[in-house]
Amino acid sequence: MFISSQLFSGRDKKLKSPAKVAPIAKPMEKVRIGYVGVGGMGTAHVENLLKIKGAEIVAVCDIVESHAARAQDLVVKAGQGKPEAYTKSETDFKRLCQRDDIDLVYNATPWEWHVPVSLEAMKNGKHAATEVPAAYTIEDCWKLVETSEKTGKYCIMMENCNYDKVEMMILNMVKKGLFGELLHAECGYLHDLRAVKYDMEGEGLWRRAHSMKRNGDLYPTHGLGPIMQYMDINRGNYFDYLVSFGTKTRGLHLYAENKFGIDSPQAKEKFVLSDVVTTLLKTMNGETIVLTHDTSSPRPYSRDILVQGTKGIARKYPETKIYIEQEGKPHVWDKVDEYMKQYEHPVWIELEEQSKGAGHGGMDFIEDYRLVNALLRGVEPDMDVYDAVVMSAVCELSEKSINQKSTPQKFPDFTRGM
Ligand SMILES: NC(=O)c1ccc[n+]([C@@H]2O[C@H](COP(=O)([O-])OP(=O)(O)OC[C@H]3O[C@@H](n4cnc5c(N)ncnc54)[C@H](O)[C@@H]3O)[C@@H](O)[C@H]2O)c1
Repeated sequence: MFISSQLFSGRDKKLKSPAKVAPIAKPMEKVRIGYVGVGGMGTAHVENLLKIKGAEIVAVCDIVESHAARAQDLVVKAGQGKPEAYTKSETDFKRLCQRDDIDLVYNATPWEWHVPVSLEAMKNGKHAATEVPAAYTIEDCWKLVETSEKTGKYCIMMENCNYDKVEMMILNMVKKGLFGELLHAECGYLHDLRAVKYDMEGEGLWRRAHSMKRNGDLYPTHGLGPIMQYMDINRGNYFDYLVSFGTKTRGLHLYAENKFGIDSPQAKEKFVLSDVVTTLLKTMNGETIVLTHDTSSPRPYSRDILVQGTKGIARKYPETKIYIEQEGKPHVWDKVDEYMKQYEHPVWIELEEQSKGAGHGGMDFIEDYRLVNALLRGVEPDMDVYDAVVMSAVCELSEKSINQKSTPQKFPDFTRGM
């Protein structure tokens, strides 16, 4: 059974159809996919896609042959034909994009490749789906917008946290008005990645390098994605400006000294990324958001979700708690259980069973399912290129703000007034 595509209400009610948005693609009998970058996350997506009726993986690409071979094996074991592998060079994805039997090029490559792969896909007449962030410079954000508009192809940033069970329950409650008018939110990505950044494979090969070159919120989308939906960003509301602050830089260096020794090459590396980056965003509708990035400190994982409205508040991490003025005891948090029974999002009610065992508690399967089914049915996917870039723009805007002593940075209007 298919589900409604109106996951994020608001846009169609408040705005006229934007003139330049990629036209809604026609329904397809199957979605033929070329997958680029089959490391940790790419392999997880391939496994999800192989469980989704109507999705077919016809080509895989990776600069590491064994990664591509592993993906080929997964596809064959799932009963599909052996996909062709593209492993010749860092730009071999271009040959994959030129094939005429692909509808969607989906990439989970290191950050620096998201834009080149997405652009190449669209220019060759394929829809593009990319892991997060979609881009990390404003210039690249504009390239994605302009190419999507010009080619009429979707460019979708796969923000899996939008599909988390609790975040979606809160979305449902926000849209039903339980929190009243929204005032403020908090969110972020607080994940101790010190060991990951020094790994000899996977993200260790590329993610640490960004901490040496860039000081800003390098990974804003897991926190901002759900908040954007709650606040109807791009659906009648928009981010106005932000300011960012960065702490001193300690965590990675201390970790390297401790793990590899004070005379090790790792301990001599220099980092510029502040251990904690705090960004304050103001929306056009008058809400504020505190966004935090911390991947270098010892701490349990959190996305720090908090939503405050005129009638109540929800927070997630370390555990989910709700307070609705009319429903609970004054000044006392309620546990989530009763609210989950009443307000679990219909998408989760339908897909929870199928998503069991998939990455990040099932939300990764749900995001892949939603994408494939939107393409199959010929309905607008949950997120578009404007959603991808407004969140990704935080990367460069926060770097600029920190660099200029926390000067406010205005968000470009990627929709050009739409
Ligand atoms: N949404 C999430 O929860 C989540 C979780 C983890 C990673 N990610 C994102 O997924 C992406 C990949 O992360 P990962 O953890 O899988 O990293 P990874 O290093 O495990 O995988 C990257 C893969 O891309 C390959 N690759 C590198 N350059 C390439 C090129 N030019 N062409 C083709 N293949 C290339 C690598 O060989 C590797 O197999 C990143 O953008 C990361 O931020 C998202």
